Amino acid sequence: MISSPPGAYRHSNDQWGSFKRLSANLPEGSLVVLDRKVAKLHPTVLTALKARRPHAVLQLTGGERAKSFEALEQVLSAGLTLPRSGTLVAMGGGTIGDVSTMAAHLLKRGVRLVQVPTTLLAAVDSSLGGKGAVDVTVRGRVVKNPVGVFHYAEETWLCPELFASLSDTQRREGALEAWKMVASLDAELFQAYTRRAPALERLVKDARRLKESVCAQDPYEQQGLRRVLNFGHTFGHVLESVSHFKLSHGDAVGLGMLCALDVGRALGVTPPNVAERVEAALQKGPGVLGRERTAQLLGRAALKDIQVLLAADKKTGAGGELRMVLLTDIGVAEIRDVTAPQWRALWPAWTQGVRP
Ligand SMILES: NC(=O)c1ccc[n+]([C@@H]2O[C@H](COP(=O)([O-])OP(=O)(O)OC[C@H]3O[C@@H](n4cnc5c(N)ncnc54)[C@H](O)[C@@H]3O)[C@@H](O)[C@H]2O)c1
Ligand SMILES: [Zn+2]
Repeated sequence: MISSPPGAYRHSNDQWGSFKRLSANLPEGSLVVLDRKVAKLHPTVLTALKARRPHAVLQLTGGERAKSFEALEQVLSAGLTLPRSGTLVAMGGGTIGDVSTMAAHLLKRGVRLVQVPTTLLAAVDSSLGGKGAVDVTVRGRVVKNPVGVFHYAEETWLCPELFASLSDTQRREGALEAWKMVASLDAELFQAYTRRAPALERLVKDARRLKESVCAQDPYEQQGLRRVLNFGHTFGHVLESVSHFKLSHGDAVGLGMLCALDVGRALGVTPPNVAERVEAALQKGPGVLGRERTAQLLGRAALKDIQVLLAADKKTGAGGELRMVLLTDIGVAEIRDVTAPQWRALWPAWTQGVRP
């Protein structure tokens, strides 16, 4: 029997428990890429890892800079003598997860990957679905994720004690990505969440189930089905980039969802009451930032730079139109082409921080 190679698609295999308990099963000689801040905030992690006699524990500073070719090279160098049967553990937020996924795919043409998400955003989103990427700078602006791979994790360890050190802001960022999935994929859950905000573990489990259900239908994004997961990301990535990554990914996606609701309404795709309900829920639930933040950031940028960013963000069609995820109802998302004049008509309102 031929078994599937490391990194090939598999259902997510989630293990919940303390890091100490879960790491007791880590194969000896694994390469661990660990967020430096996590190592500092949770000193018992290093003790538990060392007990498994790792190949190396490479500490990286989490943040968008970790998604660079330099950081990737550091991980690859640390893993050069890892055997093909070896395991790479990615322990940190989405940035550590993304660069480590790239490295796991490249080392020995693919080694086993274990994800240990330590931010809420990584737990609800980035540690699932097999994607890893690094950023590239184009004309002085960082373009997110144009170079990447699919390499599915063998296991994901979800250790609630690691989330205890997250700030309210970090929780908001993760919650926004989770609400993104709920608002665009599951009307019933959206209703339930608006009645009563979920506890953190519930939110993680629900978001992972929703994302998994989409990825399972289109593991390598060949049919376009996974594009629905990009709700809020078209303008979200633009905002992230023009802020020079001072605005976090989750917060950017939150504001990007408001832009997508505006575009949907302007095109007659998103019914006005749907847009209103989702915007209100994003404010009351995870606490999306105010529109003045969008105005502040877009106000600083030239329209032609925005166009370069949108074009480089791999979401444009052949004619330069944007392929945007728009809501046709709560829990129902569709991909629609949006022409430049259509979204540019919203620019005055966006740069004034008002709802168009
Ligand atoms: N691969 C995917 O499918 C996918 C999906 C969504 C997002 N992403 C990517 O994920 C990245 C964002 O992830 P993120 O928000 O986790 O960012 P991040 O990795 O930069 O982490 C945010 C901050 O939290 C710190 N941190 C990590 N764990 C902590 C803990 N337990 N306690 C306190 N602080 C902690 C980090 O050091 C960092 O300063 C973006 O680059 C985005 O593009 C990827
Ligand atoms: Zn995202």
